[in-house]
Amino acid sequence: MKKAHALAGLVLSTALLGAGISSAFAADETLRSLADKNGIYIGAILNSQWFSGGLPGNYEQIHKAQFNIVVAENEMKFDATEPQEGRFNYNNGDKMVKYAQQNGMRVRGHALAWHSQVPNWVNNYKNDKKKLLAVLKNHIEKVVGHWKGKVAEWDVVNEAISNNEPMWRSQSVWYQGIGPEFIDSAFVWTHAVDPDAELCYNDYNLEQGINPKAKAGFLLEQVKRWVKNGIPIHCVGSQTHVEDTTTDKHFIGSPDSLRSLAKELAKLNVKLKITELDIGFKSGINVSKKDLERQGQTFRQYLDIILEEPNADTYLIWGVSDKWSWLGGLNRQKGLIYDDNLKPKPAFDSILVRLQTYEPPKDTAKKDTVVQDSIKKDSTGKDSINAIRTIPSLNSLSMHVAGHTLFVTGAKTAKVDVFDMQGRPIFSAENNKGVFDLTTIAEGLYVVRVQSGFSNLTKRISIK
Ligand code: XIL
Repeated sequence: MKKAHALAGLVLSTALLGAGISSAFAADETLRSLADKNGIYIGAILNSQWFSGGLPGNYEQIHKAQFNIVVAENEMKFDATEPQEGRFNYNNGDKMVKYAQQNGMRVRGHALAWHSQVPNWVNNYKNDKKKLLAVLKNHIEKVVGHWKGKVAEWDVVNEAISNNEPMWRSQSVWYQGIGPEFIDSAFVWTHAVDPDAELCYNDYNLEQGINPKAKAGFLLEQVKRWVKNGIPIHCVGSQTHVEDTTTDKHFIGSPDSLRSLAKELAKLNVKLKITELDIGFKSGINVSKKDLERQGQTFRQYLDIILEEPNADTYLIWGVSDKWSWLGGLNRQKGLIYDDNLKPKPAFDSILVRLQTYEPPKDTAKKDTVVQDSIKKDSTGKDSINAIRTIPSLNSLSMHVAGHTLFVTGAKTAKVDVFDMQGRPIFSAENNKGVFDLTTIAEGLYVVRVQSGFSNLTKRISIK
């Protein structure tokens, strides 16, 4: 892949060019523009304070300039969306969806069936299996239905596995009242409401190995069973709340362990996403510049999984600035990529540089995701403000697959190329109808590129 030269946002680029930076292109790259180039999603939560307008303006400026995927810290959880039985509150979630749409970001929904942040009224039914099933089903139908087509992926089940033993977590109203079948049911119900959404099982400590006693080993057996039984699960979310190894001598997780989980999931056609990354230090200790640099290397090692493993596509950080991180409650500190003053830390640079330098193996196709180069380098290659021209925004071009049909919108005439996962072209067609018949293509995962004028959209699709 070419080195990225995309500029991510006019506002930012103008500001930087105005500041007289000699190499405009290096300075103007953002995590977002480079993630788009590499076909991955990079994101951070919108902290709860954002929803009530309690954050400084540059928080949002940074957030939308640097990230192409977003998730709400608390606002789509059960207690936020159905605080009283049958009374739904979508206001904050709607606010985030609107923000994402205005800024061309993908939305993650978090989380439908979880033992935590469940309102008290649910516990009233803990001895009534039938009622509890109805409560969960209704919640899923209403919430997923409300954001159908707007939330691209859901954490359908969150943290259902025990911390200590390879078994389900018993401390959960859903498990106690329904049994483990609440999990299978939640996936089936969610899929029925929004068949286009990607559905994930999400948990922490999944970077601690895949032997049968580890959480990820137990999960892997469940994923195998779900896939075999036709339960619609498409992804595993690894929260990846980890600690810097020098401050937690007992920490047994590693990027390599998480990579082995990704490889096992690939065999099942299931994706791995990093959904809540933070790499904290113990609270109270002095954190040196060297420590922060090492932390940056760990951030990079987790990013490598997302860049290199074909079934990994998302790198989401649980916060923007250390100032508003939830980590204090875990007795950890400084686990994010911006400091208390919203200044990028060495971890930010490690991620940026890795995204700049990553060269995928020659024979692999780009991953999915929109390539949103709204501004590109002039072909003369001169690094001056005059050498930059705008290209019509690509945000309007979109595609989706239903069965064996591909629908393209936002283009008068579109050329569609389909590649297999090794990057071999297997289908090509051009028309002005926006509908492409893919019945000649066997079931499986593919990469589709849609081209229309200067616009270009590359996405991974699954033909079922
Ligand atoms: C955390 C939020 O960051 C806090 O604001 C809230 O008080 C508790 O939940 N795993 C998850 C997230 O799936 O939803 C949690 O978020 C962090 C751990």
